[in-house]
Amino acid sequence: MTFKLYLAPLRGFTDYIYRNTFSRHFDGCDAAVTPFIPTLKTIRVKPSHLKDVLPENNSAMPIVPQIIGNNHENFIPLAGQLSDLGYKTVNWNLGCPFPMVAKKQRGSGLLPYPEKIDNFLKKTVPAIPNRLSIKIRLGRKTPDEIFKLIPIFNRYPLQEIIIHPRTGKQMYDGEPDLDAFEKCIDMTHHRIVYNGDIIDLKSFKNLSARFPTTDSWMIGRGAIINPFLPAIIKTGKDNFSNQVETFRHFYEELFEEYQKVFSGPGHLLERMKGFWFYFSQSFKDGRKIRKKVHRTLKLPRYLEIVERFFEEDAEWEK
Ligand SMILES: Cc1cc2nc3c(=O)[nH]c(=O)nc-3n(C[C@H](O)[C@H](O)[C@H](O)COP(=O)(O)O)c2cc1C
Repeated sequence: MTFKLYLAPLRGFTDYIYRNTFSRHFDGCDAAVTPFIPTLKTIRVKPSHLKDVLPENNSAMPIVPQIIGNNHENFIPLAGQLSDLGYKTVNWNLGCPFPMVAKKQRGSGLLPYPEKIDNFLKKTVPAIPNRLSIKIRLGRKTPDEIFKLIPIFNRYPLQEIIIHPRTGKQMYDGEPDLDAFEKCIDMTHHRIVYNGDIIDLKSFKNLSARFPTTDSWMIGRGAIINPFLPAIIKTGKDNFSNQVETFRHFYEELFEEYQKVFSGPGHLLERMKGFWFYFSQSFKDGRKIRKKVHRTLKLPRYLEIVERFFEEDAEWEK
């Protein structure tokens, strides 16, 4: 069966630099949803705010820009600007679990308010030139909040709904609630995209066997940990050789590209520490390199540690 595989939005990770570098070394992602762009009160957002979605930065992989916000008056002009840039679909973030965001009734913080969501859609859907797709969790506090929302979504011509079957409160703890996901499939008139904990071919096969009508999937952390994974899932084959070498070329280019855009060594090091939290999980004894990188305070020392790791220790485990 042919299916669509999306790269998930991970703020601080899957920006245009990552997406472009990924595409030069790996395959398997048909498209990406971008990390969220917050709505602003201004009518026209500055191009610098939209750098991640500018077409000139995105020739490698089709993208769907994501917006986070709860106010149609701010959302509509931003969606219009994205349409001017050529984006026929924009994604609305109804999943972000972070308390600072959710407290302001944004992301998953809006899920307990079906009437607000309905009102937002009533005002927004007819007013924007793009199609609207939604990325959502099951609820803020409880996994049944979504069951009040799906009948509302059914009344609007949405592009698709991407479901990460956890609650916001759960963050990333516990297992995705597959029974609740199944119920969503049964209730909806829309195309549903599954997202959550696809970490290897086996987990993908289990999910696709359980949800045979689902033809669109999204993968986030699993692809950061193991960038071969999208192609493995897409082809069903796990027969790569020289993984460490391929990964190293990818990593070195990623580092160089971030070095060009970050102003100081501190930011660059922080970004790399974020990546190594995930990258390390693909290597044998990966905890060691993760800890070493995590403890590093200076960029030259970081470079030494990573160089030595690739020269002496790196053994692919995934
Ligand atoms: C560090 C981090 C940043 C994220 N940023 C976003 C974001 O900007 N927008 C969004 O919709 N989801 C965001 N997510 C959620 C992911 O897109 C995805 O739904 C989640 O990680 C579950 O999928 P996975 O198990 O394949 O990673 C983020 C997740 C993480 C871990």
